[in-house]
Amino acid sequence: MITMKNVLKEGNPLLNEKSIDVNLPLSVEDENILRDMIDYVKESIKEENIDNPDYRPAVGIAAPQIGVLKKMIAIIAPDEHYKDHELFLVNPKILSYSDELAYLPGGEGCLSVDRKCDAYIFRPRRTMIESYVYNYETRELKKERIKLKGYLSVVFNHEFDHLNGILFVSKANPINPYEIPDNASPIIFDDEKNEEQK
Ligand code: CO
Repeated sequence: MITMKNVLKEGNPLLNEKSIDVNLPLSVEDENILRDMIDYVKESIKEENIDNPDYRPAVGIAAPQIGVLKKMIAIIAPDEHYKDHELFLVNPKILSYSDELAYLPGGEGCLSVDRKCDAYIFRPRRTMIESYVYNYETRELKKERIKLKGYLSVVFNHEFDHLNGILFVSKANPINPYEIPDNASPIIFDDEKNEEQK
């Protein structure tokens, strides 16, 4: 079981290390680590754990955040229509990404970063990946190509950065943290669009 006690914090040198490919087929040990990561994300968003300091709500976690330098990511995140997507990834690779950028108007957060980072972080609006995708129920691992867009592309790229030893705070523009490049636009969820039209 993983709780916040197991999550490494900014300043821990392991968070700046590059992860290595996971040997396939998955060993029992690696599979259990991945399942623990998935369980953490599932538990963290349960209403009953809102006030539990063992959990901070997360849409994703990467193995290096618990000190395992292997390419594994667990994401449960909504698209802009609030449909949840599960991405349990082993050895993900980026095949291509858009020039067009996206950012979260509220900034990014990270289980490994306790301080508030006031800045826009720019990510590819669309990312094409190839990865082994883990099925939590059947325990199957299948190689797939997946097109990620919008919020899911942002979340994936945040987690993928962890596999390269990069924390989002290092991507903030130190001089003008809210400067928006011409090719960037915000991620806007459905209900926020409606708000804007009012
Ligand atoms: Co993070």
